[in-house]
Amino acid sequence: MGKRITDRVTWIGKVDWELRKFHGDEFSTHHGSSYNSYLVRDKKTALIDTVWLPYDKEFVASLKDEIDLNQIDYIIINHGEVDHSGALPELMREIPNTPIYCTANAVKSIKGQYHEDWNFVTVKTGDTLNLGDTTLTFIEAPMLHWPDTMFTYMSGDNILFSNDGFGQHFAAETLYNDSADQCALWEEAIKYYANILTPFNPMVTRKINEILSMSLPIDLICPSHGVIWKDNPTQIVEKYLQWSDNYQENQITIIYDTMWNATRRMAETIAEGISEADPKATVKIFSASKTDKTDIITEVFRSRAVVVGSPTVNSGYLYSIAGILELIRGMKFKNKKAAAFGSYGWSGESVKLIIEQLEHAGLKVVDVGYRVNWHPDQNELEKIREYGRQLAASLQA
Ligand code: FEO
Repeated sequence: MGKRITDRVTWIGKVDWELRKFHGDEFSTHHGSSYNSYLVRDKKTALIDTVWLPYDKEFVASLKDEIDLNQIDYIIINHGEVDHSGALPELMREIPNTPIYCTANAVKSIKGQYHEDWNFVTVKTGDTLNLGDTTLTFIEAPMLHWPDTMFTYMSGDNILFSNDGFGQHFAAETLYNDSADQCALWEEAIKYYANILTPFNPMVTRKINEILSMSLPIDLICPSHGVIWKDNPTQIVEKYLQWSDNYQENQITIIYDTMWNATRRMAETIAEGISEADPKATVKIFSASKTDKTDIITEVFRSRAVVVGSPTVNSGYLYSIAGILELIRGMKFKNKKAAAFGSYGWSGESVKLIIEQLEHAGLKVVDVGYRVNWHPDQNELEKIREYGRQLAASLQA
């Protein structure tokens, strides 16, 4: 069912309350998500984005309840990923000649996925589409987060349709930021940024400054996931400027995995030492094998330092630690410090190898790490606690 946003704009999307995994199994969505599509009715009518493929029929049926599909003059696809373009095949079976406005890269991605030669109209930054009393202006936003991404700005109603940008995987019945559970909303907003946009921080900063320099009045920011930013809409823009500037809080995150609890005891004891020496720092500990990986990346995003531990297994480190190290590498974090630790029985390579991966990921490793042969006794635990105290000083900014 459509929901009125303004006199001219109607939300036609899908709130997906049951979604718990996105991007295959890569991204956990504890609060569901939504795929927001918007119908803009002026003298001409435009549809902005569609929904994810599994909801294509439901979407087209909802759209038919709102409008005779033949009255849709233009389709705008801000980004070709299937969660926004997925209903195109179902829709285009009904209105096959309707022009699809998108970037040149979006033509590539849409053709690559659907193998259809629809009536594409390629647009670039500054191109406009007049609908009558209002005009749509297209703003390419490459790498926010795909090369094909663009934003669409609607004059008159002063709406920025930002697709993934400023979005969250968050299901909300009323659609707006002011009525959402604020704690959950902001947790999902930062998680979305941390896991999806961090690698593209410099592009985010540049694009936002470019949009701000256009001095466009903005009454609403309508992303294609999660809530519409209606109350103080640019608060999320200000947050993006903070997040894209190598964001960090006074947090140290310890990530470990363990086989027989020696490395877990090390993690907990290092945390005690850090907290004793640096009581103002927030210290959090996560088992990499028991904690969702995108939640861990969100914690790393918040942190000024990470400490990673694994026992040595087969001359390496544990599988879950390998996965987290790979995710950290892909995020291209800047300005974070790091250290490593782990127990071993025989050869003991894990700490050295973790340090190599942390350095490869661009983190500044502050020491040679801490290794324990077999299981730490009380005397060893006190040494580890002292290592934690010293580490707190090394990890200071
Ligand atoms: Fe929400 Fe990049 O798709």
